[in-house]
Amino acid sequence: MSTKVPAIRSQALERGVDLERFPAHVGVIMDGNGRWATGRGLQRLLGHREGYRTLRRVLLAASELGVRYLTVYAFSAENWRRPEDEVRGLLSLIEQAARDELRIMHQNNVRVQVAGRTDELPEGLRAALEHGIKTTAKNTGITFTLAINYGGRAEIVDAIQGIVREGIPASEITEELLSQRMYNPETPDPDLIVRTAGEMRWSNFLIWQAAYAELFVTEKPWPDFGGDDLIEAVLSYQVRTRKFGGV
Ligand code: IPE
Ligand code: IPE
Ligand code: MG
Repeated sequence: MSTKVPAIRSQALERGVDLERFPAHVGVIMDGNGRWATGRGLQRLLGHREGYRTLRRVLLAASELGVRYLTVYAFSAENWRRPEDEVRGLLSLIEQAARDELRIMHQNNVRVQVAGRTDELPEGLRAALEHGIKTTAKNTGITFTLAINYGGRAEIVDAIQGIVREGIPASEITEELLSQRMYNPETPDPDLIVRTAGEMRWSNFLIWQAAYAELFVTEKPWPDFGGDDLIEAVLSYQVRTRKFGGV
């Protein structure tokens, strides 16, 4: 085993991050790709393309820092409202990234999973995602969840439909049961949610699971986000007192 401390880890230590008190699960609302592009006179799709480069960097940084779960919002159940060519471009970009990045993810012991109504996605994309999930299923490093065609309310509706279909009586419906019926029940609730591009809203991301998540918002659009920003988010998280309703 290598004893070399990854650069990002030593950078985190230098900046005062407590590696013992790391958020286990970080969620990211990757926003601002469009603004990043139009601000440069480019087409929005080029912003999304740059966004995928950022995602590769941030996933590897999170993995080296010791984050156990990283969940990223790639395409919301509401993003179908965008112009058809943007939707098509975005979905084919995700498919391409899923294929191109699989090798490096597998090499880095990343376990891939998805959250969302994937049955509504185009066939080729679904196949690419399923291949990624299968290939990395036994990996023991960071769990990377791609939230795609994901909506927090849709997830709750899907959970309740399953419960009703099974005829579970009302008296047995608890918060724990609902948590078990979410898309990835083995994944712990997020500790920290990062949102880029300055918007102070949830946009239907992990609304059940994020009840007690800490929020970190940066003005930077997603394509400009990097490992150093992740460290800043963790530093901000570590000075907060999480009270979960207590004193
Ligand atoms: C985030 O960037 C990517 C997705 C929502 C798919 P946006 O495309 O929302 O970028 P802005 O908010 O228009 O700048
Ligand atoms: C949230 O961003 C969805 C993703 C990042 C995939 P949006 O850009 O769609 O959110 P709104 O429309 O600003 O709420
Ligand atoms: Mg946006």
